[in-house]
Amino acid sequence: MTTLTGLQGKVALVTGGSRGIGAAVSRHLVSLGCRVVIAYRSDHEAADRLAVELAGDSGACTAVQADVADPEAVTALMARAVEVFGGLDILVNCAALGHYRALGKMDAAFIRSILDTNVMGTVLMTEAALPHLPSPGGRIINFASALAYRPIPTSSVYSASKAAVVTLTHAFAKELGPRGITVNAVAPGVIETDMTTKIIEERGEQIIAMTPLARIGQPGDIAGIVGFLASTEAGWVTGRTIIADGGVT
Ligand SMILES: NC(=O)c1ccc[n+]([C@@H]2O[C@H](COP(=O)([O-])OP(=O)(O)OC[C@H]3O[C@@H](n4cnc5c(N)ncnc54)[C@H](OP(=O)(O)O)[C@@H]3O)[C@@H](O)[C@H]2O)c1
Repeated sequence: MTTLTGLQGKVALVTGGSRGIGAAVSRHLVSLGCRVVIAYRSDHEAADRLAVELAGDSGACTAVQADVADPEAVTALMARAVEVFGGLDILVNCAALGHYRALGKMDAAFIRSILDTNVMGTVLMTEAALPHLPSPGGRIINFASALAYRPIPTSSVYSASKAAVVTLTHAFAKELGPRGITVNAVAPGVIETDMTTKIIEERGEQIIAMTPLARIGQPGDIAGIVGFLASTEAGWVTGRTIIADGGVT
């Protein structure tokens, strides 16, 4: 059996790591031998429960509260993350708000909340991680969305925020390539999490019908891609966004 290499003992920080896809990523990275700092914004219970479960006897996981859209909170999060496990090798920018509104129903506060978390949060976290990531060898993995490529009615601002993540990924890869740090993104289609409960309730059958692989994606379908991008085996891949949507796009 072949296994991914280069992950044993590595320190990963997973924003939005407490629930949904981020939780699956945290679980998978721990299973691959990483020590993981889970960052979350408000759901203490979910974050603490997962951190205790993943820490097990080895202590390989901890949870830290921080709003990625708040520059001071990001600085404090990074200081704490680096202190806990003595460094940082892998940054996974998974935290996001997935709210949709139709044209005519949006206001400045709504637009700002999406852009602040999804776009500014990704930039602030990357800036904060840079002094700590190994050069060469550091890994940054961002979260875009298939909706960046095929927006649906009401997803305009969310889709635009994820298109920005695709471009940030490409641009950061060019800036950080000379330092041997790779930057890639994953763009999932619909994955069953709290973010998509309502959509799946309303349109689940339709989504399955338009998906060549004929089911709703699960967080575990995405976690393995992040594990690969974090591994030594993905060392020659940078600036790419991998669409993982069961073949819809
Ligand atoms: N699910 C999908 O179908 C899908 C499809 C395409 C792309 N994606 C992307 O995949 C990623 C994960 O999605 P998901 O469905 O797993 O999301 P989710 O279940 O809604 O979980 C969101 C996570 O992000 C955290 N978070 C939100 N805003 C934050 C902030 N300002 N600061 C820090 N943490 C924050 C939440 O923490 P709290 O719980 O503490 O609030 C939670 O851990 C997101 O980037 C999303 O856009 C998801």
